[in-house]
Amino acid sequence: MIRLGINVDHVATVRQARLAQLPDPVAAALLAEQAGANGITVHLREDRRHIQEHDVRRLLERGKTKVNLEMAATPAMVRFAAKLGPQDVCLVPEKRQELTTEGGLDAIAHRRKIKDAVARLQGRGIQVALFIDPVVEQIECARDCGAHGIEIHTGSYCNASGAKRPRELKKIVAGARLAQALGLEVHGGHGLDYENVLPIARIPEMVELNIGHSIIARAVLVGIERAVREMKQLLNRARRS
Ligand code: PXP
Repeated sequence: MIRLGINVDHVATVRQARLAQLPDPVAAALLAEQAGANGITVHLREDRRHIQEHDVRRLLERGKTKVNLEMAATPAMVRFAAKLGPQDVCLVPEKRQELTTEGGLDAIAHRRKIKDAVARLQGRGIQVALFIDPVVEQIECARDCGAHGIEIHTGSYCNASGAKRPRELKKIVAGARLAQALGLEVHGGHGLDYENVLPIARIPEMVELNIGHSIIARAVLVGIERAVREMKQLLNRARRS
């Protein structure tokens, strides 16, 4: 079985568009769990454009599965996560201007800061993954930083068309293999949808996929339970065939 983490950020995006109370990303998370989600992912961004601190607190109180908190490795965020204690943290790069996370973390350039954040969080019993591109040196650096795992940035694969896509897939397959050989747990995410997920879900080393936008977009039309169930069915099919 491959775990499916549902990113509910964009439920909060709709709420924040009106600075209203609804829709509640925590209510969406509970429905997603009932439909088979294995975990809930939220990204607490520096500008708080969607998820708010109280969402993370309420999710930790009410969620039945596990919480994966995506965050930048800033001192304030590390303090917040260490205090709340989600099961998982995924360290991501963050720029205020970007629409969404663009590219993986440069673990090599920020080695010291990341190593310290990993040590602090893992010391609190939180499993830390680094969101990185499938690049040998970055994967080795994740291991050197003491991370539990990596989340391979699947965005380049998802955005590629024609002959470029199999090339991007190959990089992810090789990265997953190397990471597992180095003792890292392998996750994937960013840009995955109902059309492009199967080749990624078939990579044997992948143990978890974190998917947000495509599932929330489908949920607007068919409801979140059906949108999650359909993705679970695809993942199960990928592992059977
Ligand atoms: N994983 C990480 C580290 C991310 O930053 C995001 C986007 O917040 C996702 C997964 C989910 O990406 P998407 O919304 O494109 O499915």
